[in-house]
Order: sequence, then structure tokens, then C-alpha cells
Amino acid sequence: MDPFRVPFNRLKPVFEKHREEYESAALEVLRSGSYVLGEQVDAFEGEFAAFAGTEHCVSMNSGLDALRLAFQALGIGPGDEVVVPANTYIASALGVSLNGARPVFAEPDAWFTLDPGATRRAVSEKTKAILPVHLYGQSCDMDLLCRLAEEAGLSVVEDCAQSHGALFGGRMTGSFGEAGCFSFYPTKNCGAFGDGGAVTTNDADLAERLRRLRHYGMDSHGCHLAAGWNSRLDEIQAAFLRVRLRHLGENLAARREIAERYLSGIRNPSIELPAVREGANHTWHLFVVRCPARDALKGWLSGRGIETKVHYPVPPHATPVYRELGIGPGDLPVTERMASEILSLPLFEGMTPEQTDRVIEALNDFFG
Ligand SMILES: Cc1ncc(COP(=O)(O)O)c(C=O)c1O
Repeated sequence: MDPFRVPFNRLKPVFEKHREEYESAALEVLRSGSYVLGEQVDAFEGEFAAFAGTEHCVSMNSGLDALRLAFQALGIGPGDEVVVPANTYIASALGVSLNGARPVFAEPDAWFTLDPGATRRAVSEKTKAILPVHLYGQSCDMDLLCRLAEEAGLSVVEDCAQSHGALFGGRMTGSFGEAGCFSFYPTKNCGAFGDGGAVTTNDADLAERLRRLRHYGMDSHGCHLAAGWNSRLDEIQAAFLRVRLRHLGENLAARREIAERYLSGIRNPSIELPAVREGANHTWHLFVVRCPARDALKGWLSGRGIETKVHYPVPPHATPVYRELGIGPGDLPVTERMASEILSLPLFEGMTPEQTDRVIEALNDFFG
């Protein structure tokens, strides 16, 4: 590989750093003869609940399933509405619409998270829940959103796919709402070596319904009480995740160091740095800048061997999936402008100070 190239992300070093622990975790599972819903899943669920500060954790096989089954377990379906940020990954909205409910898109605030004022305006008599998405690794304003939900009698389902370890007012994201939905997709800050997801909750009944839904709707007597799914986390992924979780602090510290280097080094009036919310620790799943000449900037960086991405170029409402909602250009102007200006910079555990400085230098040399 070109030594001067700066990739957007690299996963192999994550494995290499704790290779022995991952290899012995894999061997332990292979030799155990138990591959689905066994000791590793039990142990991981206990450890992840303790980490998130909740009573329960129910693992699944993806973040999308965590969202979809959380809404199903809350009884949200046809005729119901859920307020969803317009600037999120499509999975947030799919978690709602796959249950037959309608996602109502609300604009983001200055931190790229669900705007409480826009949320209030999006609530109707059909609204049953709000879905704060702690996008890019930073918590939404959970004080305002939880107060709003309480006043309006709405459930709060948190999308924590990008926020493992992110706090708001010292409390872990995933512990505020009825349900916190996590993804363990490999690129996530706490990623598996394959797919995975989980729901955290303090509600024992909800946890029980989720355990049934992920296993064909079956209770402990083998009776099928609901039309469930097969969404179980593999033992081997649970074993990997136990290692990953043990070392999550190292990953978050490394990310913080890179982000701080970016924040103090990038000086270009045409590039806007991400805002960090007071009282919330950003976990830097993604470092997203804004630039009106985004495409030119992307090309400029690419010409210097620096790989960047856009999260996300097309907001869910503008995809064919949600055409029937009839939301047209200009209806969500904050989100539409954001989608045309955002750019995610390289940031990964193992990224060197030289690589970070190379990105900073290229950004500061850009005239857009
Ligand atoms: C905000 C958000 N929600 C949900 C998901 C879905 O997670 P998964 O890929 O594990 O299904 C993702 C994954 O990329 C995400 O970024």
C-alpha cells in the first residue's frame, strides 16, 4: 500500500492489536459445541447491560433488527407515527416503516442530531414515539427530548448504532428511553467481525417480548406467542464482542486524540468543524465537516491520496423507498443543505499523527 495514502478506515489493526484474545475467544466457541444462544451471548448481554447502565440487554443479529423489533415489541404499527431525524441512515426509518408505521421526518440541530423544536412541530395525535439518533457518536439533547416525550405521552426509542459509550449529562446513551438500539456492524466503535445488534432496556416485560421476537416469538415453554423472527446473535460474534467491549475505552481514547488534533489543526474559513455539545462526550464514530464546495473538497483530498466518505448523500425521504410520503425538494431544507455539504474525514484506531497531519495540511491548502 502507498505509505502516503490515508484510508478512510482500517479494521485489520483492530484484530491485530488483540489478536490472541480474539483467536482464543474463537477457539473457545468452536470447541464448546454451542453456537447459538449459549453462554457467550448470556455473558455478553450481561456485560453490555452493565456498560450501558440498563437492567437488560437483548442481543440480535443487526442494528436494523434491534430497531424493528423494539418498535414491534412496543406495539407500534399501522396508523402510528414516529418522529425520526431526517438526516439519518435509512435503517433508522426502516425500523419504523417495516412495522407498517409512518416515519415523520424532522430537521436536525447544529450538532447533526434531532432538533427538539422540530420534533415538537412534527408530533401529531398519531405519534406514538420519537427516535433520537445519536448520530456520528454524539448524544442528542436528551433533556429536552425526554421532557417533550413525557409531556406528550410518547415512547423514546434511541438509535445508538453510532454512539457506544457516548454520554449525555454523565448518563450513557441507550439508557434514557424505553429501548436503546445498538449495531455491532464491524465499522462501529464497538463492532463485531460480522453483523450484530442489541436492545438495552430497563423494562423487564419489554426485554422478555424482545427475547421472544428474536426467536420466532417463542416463550420458554416452546409456545409461539407472537409472529417473531430469527434474529439471534451468534456465539462467536458474542465472544468477539466481549473482547471488543473490554477494549472499547482504548478505541474511544484513540479516536478522541485524532479528533482533537483535527479540531486544533484545521484552519480553513471554507470548512466548518463539527460542534461538540456541552455536557456530552463525543465518541467520534465519524468526524464530519461541512463545506459548501464539498464535492470539490472531496476530489482535492482524493488527489492527495486521502479517502473520505459522505454520511449520507441522500436523506431517507429523498430515496424511492419513501416516495409515497410525498416529501419534495425544499420540504426539509436544513437536511437537504447538510447532505450537500457534509464530508466524513478518515478517523480510525491506529491512524498515525503523520496521517492526521497530512489530512489537516491538505484541508488547510484547499481554496473552495
Ligand atoms: C444510525 C444507524 N442506525 C441503524 C443502523 C443499522 O445497523 P446495522 O447495519 O447493524 O443493521 C446503522 C448502521 O449503519 C446506523 O448507522
